[in-house]
Amino acid sequence: MRRRVIAGNWKMFKTQSETRAFFSAFAPLVGSSTNCDIVIAPPFTAIPAAVEVAKGTNIAISGQDVFWEKDGAFTGEISANMLVEAGCRYVIIGHSERRQFFGETDETVAKKTKAALAAGLTPIVCLGELLSHREAGQTHHICKSQFTGGVAALTADEFSRILIAYEPVWAIGTGRTATPEIASDVHRFLRQCAAERFSAAHASALRILYGGSVKPDNIQGLMAQEELDGALVGGASLDAKSFATIVSFA
Ligand code: PGA
Repeated sequence: MRRRVIAGNWKMFKTQSETRAFFSAFAPLVGSSTNCDIVIAPPFTAIPAAVEVAKGTNIAISGQDVFWEKDGAFTGEISANMLVEAGCRYVIIGHSERRQFFGETDETVAKKTKAALAAGLTPIVCLGELLSHREAGQTHHICKSQFTGGVAALTADEFSRILIAYEPVWAIGTGRTATPEIASDVHRFLRQCAAERFSAAHASALRILYGGSVKPDNIQGLMAQEELDGALVGGASLDAKSFATIVSFA
């Protein structure tokens, strides 16, 4: 049985004081839940505040991105060791917004994933097709090429320490969620890719989160699918009540 993970991706939302306010409302609501792993990815500047207020709770903190070098003249970048020392246990890598607006490629995803693992972080590696790919019937093809380019170069041991998030780009921030069946189909396909590249055991242990307009009113249907091992939640993770409701259905 794979343990479910509910992760909140705050994107470029919340200052430090807003982060503290969120946790004082959210932590009591999920304090006793042991049904899943809970992760929150605040923007870099709010990580120390989040780590401080999450201390002693069941909520882990994540970065939203990482650079692959250990240190150096890379203005604006943050290393995996910096995230670890700040108290992060996870990091999101290859989110579609980074691919779309900041030049992220499968190759940079692979480098970042390796660096994150070497530092002891758990990477949440994102992939997913555009609407045009889906309409052209290329969903599996695109997901496979992102899988191959992004994580297939990992060793089997490294691969066993990552999470994958399937996020169809047409569902992100659009209110248009993939149906549970669409999500399940792609999750099954990705598991097959993992079995082919690594092993059946690696594939069945791999946790694949779904992301894209996950809300309190659709989480139940999504989580009813055995293939879905949790969710990566954007907009609905910004509100303590709505994110706590999502956690309770995992
Ligand atoms: P959304 O974002 O839940 O607001 O669609 C999901 C994501 O980008 O991870």
